[in-house]
Amino acid sequence: MIAKTLASLEDVLAEELIALGANDVEIGTRMVSFTGDKALMYKANVHCRTALRILKPIYSFKAENATEVYDALKQLDWEDYLSLDKTFSVDAVVFSHIFTHSKFVAYKVKDAIVDWFNEKYEKRPSVSVTNPDLVFNIHIAHNKCTLSLDSSGESLHKRGYRVAQTEAPLNEVLAAGMILKSGWRGESTFVDPMCGSGTLLIEAAMIALGIPPGIHRQRFGFEKWGDFDKELFSDIYNDDSGSREFRYRIVGSDISPKAIAIAEKNIRNAGLKKYIDLSVQSLQQYSEAPDQKGVLITNPPYGERIKVDELTELYGMIGERLKHLFTGYWAYILSYRKECFDSIGLKHSRRFFLFNGALECEMREYEIFSGKRSEHIVKAEPREREERVAPDHYERNSREGYRRSKSAGDGKSLPQKRSFGDKTKGVKRSYGKDDKFPRQKDEGLGRKKFSLRRSPGKGRERQ
Ligand SMILES: C[S@@+](CC[C@H](N)C(=O)[O-])C[C@H]1O[C@@H](n2cnc3c(N)ncnc32)[C@H](O)[C@@H]1O
Repeated sequence: MIAKTLASLEDVLAEELIALGANDVEIGTRMVSFTGDKALMYKANVHCRTALRILKPIYSFKAENATEVYDALKQLDWEDYLSLDKTFSVDAVVFSHIFTHSKFVAYKVKDAIVDWFNEKYEKRPSVSVTNPDLVFNIHIAHNKCTLSLDSSGESLHKRGYRVAQTEAPLNEVLAAGMILKSGWRGESTFVDPMCGSGTLLIEAAMIALGIPPGIHRQRFGFEKWGDFDKELFSDIYNDDSGSREFRYRIVGSDISPKAIAIAEKNIRNAGLKKYIDLSVQSLQQYSEAPDQKGVLITNPPYGERIKVDELTELYGMIGERLKHLFTGYWAYILSYRKECFDSIGLKHSRRFFLFNGALECEMREYEIFSGKRSEHIVKAEPREREERVAPDHYERNSREGYRRSKSAGDGKSLPQKRSFGDKTKGVKRSYGKDDKFPRQKDEGLGRKKFSLRRSPGKGRERQ
């Protein structure tokens, strides 16, 4: 199987898959390949915080042009996957100098499917772009084509808890990836003082409490497959053995009352209100840190709408507040411009290169201590010093049992320059054998059925 992810999150995704019991885990470019059974496929969809989608390859072949793609796909017995009463769509991802238009490839796949059915029944299944029963994914690297069934359907970053959003919310997968890369798993207080719509707060709470990220989703693609095993899925979905106690607080604030109102809606919808403290407050207004020790992760504004001198001032203020109020914390700042980091004025201990949408960003790690750095390092116990010099993620991961692969995902054929486009006791839901859709117990609202909201995925060619 193939788990797709955002650039630079491959290592954390591989760790997540290994923890779920995946075998033959290999890292590629924006993807991790692995082997496992149907149960693992269901688990990967429900549990992986850093996966965008889980693909199940069904046919691999070589093709030099679009006609050869069409001809190869006409050989498949499409009734193994699709029937006349089902709708479908095709996603195409192409890294090849032979095939330059992913949309054209998607058309060819669609034509092969439609013609196959027309020739056999003089009828064809319909295409649905917004709400297909089955999503096929064609991936072409040079001349190597892989057709997969998309077991996720809608991208897994659509967790189902977001009911409102601010101007620049973080992608949920990126937010979870930032937290997992920091190493925080709920063993201290978590702060986001520029929380916007609350994405980092919600993802942090779900990590700390061991709540699977897919618990609020209305549906997964595999639920429409002919071999869908409702009982198996029900067992996986209702298994709360991973839930954990969380003894600390998650604290969010923002200068904007509107942002806090939005964050509150999302947090309530995620059933996490009792774990997260929210306030309208600028970072300048903080007079003390929420706890003696903790982790602070935030993405301050860095968009085009803010002027450079305002940015310099804002990031200067962030550096000053961190140094004077957040002693004992590890802070992680996601930003885009070098000037922003320069203005913080603190020495970072690690850097993580991440993409926020198309922006090539960095998340820098700062250890906040009182006094001078040189004195602090000398005072620290040997073990603390060792931890501070964090190993390179890939080195660490390769010792943990998987390989960085060139063949997986055919990273070698990618262009040089890349462009990237709890279960808590209170929110336990049940997915009974006769339920059409999962049900949620909401805070104070009693049991309710999930509403059927769905919006089409963005940024990919879908036919
Ligand atoms: C890029 S957004 C954060 C988005 C958030 N991570 C999310 O997923 O929705 C930056 C946020 O910083 C807030 N902000 C800007 N200046 C601030 C300040 N001085 N103190 C606190 N918040 C501030 C803005 O109101 C905005 O909500």
